[in-house]
Amino acid sequence: MLPKFSSKAFLAPMAGVSDPALRLQCKLLGAGLVVTEFTNIHSIIAKEKQLKEKMRTIQEFIEFSEQERPLSVQLFGSDLGALEKAAKIVEPYFDIIDYNMGCPAPHITQQMAGGALLQEVNLTTQIFETLVNAVKKPVTLKIRAGVTDSSKFLFKDIAQLAEDKGIKMITFHPRTVSQGYSGNADWKLIKELKEISSIPIVGNGDITTPEDAKTMLDETNCDYVMIGRGAMGNPFLFEQINDYLKTGEYKQYSFKDRLNSFFDYLHLSDNYKIKFANIKGQAMRFTKGMKGGAKLRSKITLSKNIKELEQIMRQAYFIS
Ligand SMILES: Cc1cc2nc3c(=O)[nH]c(=O)nc-3n(C[C@H](O)[C@H](O)[C@H](O)COP(=O)(O)O)c2cc1C
Repeated sequence: MLPKFSSKAFLAPMAGVSDPALRLQCKLLGAGLVVTEFTNIHSIIAKEKQLKEKMRTIQEFIEFSEQERPLSVQLFGSDLGALEKAAKIVEPYFDIIDYNMGCPAPHITQQMAGGALLQEVNLTTQIFETLVNAVKKPVTLKIRAGVTDSSKFLFKDIAQLAEDKGIKMITFHPRTVSQGYSGNADWKLIKELKEISSIPIVGNGDITTPEDAKTMLDETNCDYVMIGRGAMGNPFLFEQINDYLKTGEYKQYSFKDRLNSFFDYLHLSDNYKIKFANIKGQAMRFTKGMKGGAKLRSKITLSKNIKELEQIMRQAYFIS
């Protein structure tokens, strides 16, 4: 059974972005579900071996906190034996096991993983069976529409198959793999998927405002919405969506609020081993759209450690 979600707005898995500090921040600001960055099944198995020798657990590799719950872990990779092993390793720690069938990055699709799987019905069938049989926790799926424009309806067959095999929820980003992030997400396809599905559908793609979230829910009838890029450097979006859906109004936040919120992020990040390059990336995103932001970001790029980064971000209070 799926856990109960406190909000209809979820934070998308984003490699290099949805680290445990940002996830927690979004959760505290009202995200109904947060998902880890996608994780390679082979790395999980290799890491578990190393950690076992030191009597440590996989939590050191995929870091999270209890406050993030319900928490979903996203896996990628299509070797069935490894998939079964990796799913069993992570199962005790997470509430949902999510499977990635949407990633368009060539280094992923070339290893028959991510979005490339949408055209591999036999292998996909085996993947769903393997995952659902390996764990008792709910297994969910994240997909794109298809591989190319001429196969943009592959999602229908895959979604039906997923449902038949016991997948409990599908997140749908209605772009094709070859589209990458160009053009618009075709929300009409979310409506089409919702019409043929009996399991919850999470609509995803191009939501940047509370109004967008409501429009997607209203127009497609999807059960939940998932937000990726719109929440980058803007964790307030979850609170705003929740308020807007409830009351039709929401609080506006200033750049100063965004800066404060970056320092909240930084404070939370102390508890984890997040790469400095990723923290710098977060700083860039929290300054997006800010007056003097471009200048600030060129300084951020040059910063060499957290102390320098903090100093630069403090200066931003005087220019924003
Ligand atoms: C930097 C970045 C990293 C991403 N990493 C993942 C990932 O690890 N797993 C995944 O399923 N999708 C990943 N995505 C896709 C997002 O989850 C989401 O489907 C996509 O960005 C569309 O939603 P949006 O328009 O709200 O950003 C990533 C997207 C971005 C921009």
